[in-house]
Amino acid sequence: MLIKGEKIPAHIGVIMDGNGRWAQMRGLSRVEGHRQGARRTRDIIDAAINIGVDVLTLYAFSIENWNRPKMEVDTLMGLLEHYLMDEVEELIRERAIIFRMIGDRNRLPAKIQELVKDIETRTVNNEGMILVPAISYGGKDEVIRAFRKIIDSGTPVEDIDDKMVDHNLDTSGLPPVDLIIRTSGEKRVSNFLLWQGAYAEFYFTETLWPDFTSEEFLQAIGDYQKRERRYGEINQGGII
Ligand code: IPE
Ligand code: IPE
Ligand code: MG
Repeated sequence: MLIKGEKIPAHIGVIMDGNGRWAQMRGLSRVEGHRQGARRTRDIIDAAINIGVDVLTLYAFSIENWNRPKMEVDTLMGLLEHYLMDEVEELIRERAIIFRMIGDRNRLPAKIQELVKDIETRTVNNEGMILVPAISYGGKDEVIRAFRKIIDSGTPVEDIDDKMVDHNLDTSGLPPVDLIIRTSGEKRVSNFLLWQGAYAEFYFTETLWPDFTSEEFLQAIGDYQKRERRYGEINQGGII
């Protein structure tokens, strides 16, 4: 059970996995699974806003996903374009959110790059939850791009620290991720928020993404609220 107003994770990341299996189990094409999966996001976004989450990062397309068959990649890009034009437009009309993409945007089709830039510009001054779609995103790739920026700026090596790396990541200015939820029964991180998730708590569920409900989302947060985060230290009140 979720306790309102108490220990709400500031930043939640969701690995939205299992669209393909959801479709295959029903004798449908994988594309249908992705379509259904995209529809599920709205409920989760609304639930996150309603309980006061500051940042919600949704892993929609990994840098490794570029290696899927061209037909699936093309379809996903088509779906993404429509999602940005319809669902995100509706969302920003109805709720004050800040939209901020992470990932290597240069690899995305020009039309998607334009749409993303436009939505980011139009929502940058909002005061609300920050919605972060991770598209063409890889944690390792993000760290490499950060180091390239740092080296390019001529920074002396002894000045490179935690803060500087943070500042040069795509997530610059955002808090570290507190809770990572992964659907579909896989228990791995698949290159998601590697740096930012150094001390993240995990919630794994067998539920496939198109079946994931806002109730289960709240249940995941309730589970998180019961955990004790120690960050390498010892729990208070323990006998030394
Ligand atoms: C997640 O669903 C969505 C993307 C990776 C784009 P999958 O497509 O990975 O679905 P499964 O894991 O094959 O069921
Ligand atoms: C991770 O899912 C990426 C997204 C959900 C967008 P994958 O289905 O690509 O991950 P693996 O291949 O099972 O690790
Ligand atoms: Mg998968």
